[in-house]
Amino acid sequence: MEKLPVVPDRVIVPCGPECRVYRPISTMPQCLKCHGPLEELQPEIRAFLAQHYPGDNATSYSVYQWRGVIRVSLAAAEPATSGRNK
Ligand code: HEC
Repeated sequence: MEKLPVVPDRVIVPCGPECRVYRPISTMPQCLKCHGPLEELQPEIRAFLAQHYPGDNATSYSVYQWRGVIRVSLAAAEPATSGRNK
């Protein structure tokens, strides 16, 4: 069993003008069905990728690799204006 690297599940940056949540994208064993070494992919998956994603470089990943980050930004709510709408 491979050891999971110690990375935070998510990081929440305190709200200023906007709130941000960062979440790492890391590969899990099931990702390698499509992202593993080309020669280890099932022939059907390989053919599908070749047809629909020509020039795909997203193979030869290994398990528990850091592959990017998802960032969600939310604008902080505007302060309430006392009884006045625009
Ligand atoms: C059913 C097949 C399939 C599975 C399973 C899959 N992916 Fe993908 N993934 C794709 C395809 C297709 C693309 C788009 C490749 C392209 O645009 O050339 C992609 C793109 C990506 C990219 C962007 C690559 C880049 O640099 O543009 C990342 C990162 C990624 N996948 C991570 C994951 C992770 C992590 C998992 C597991 C949680 C996963 N994928 C599971 C098919 C899959």
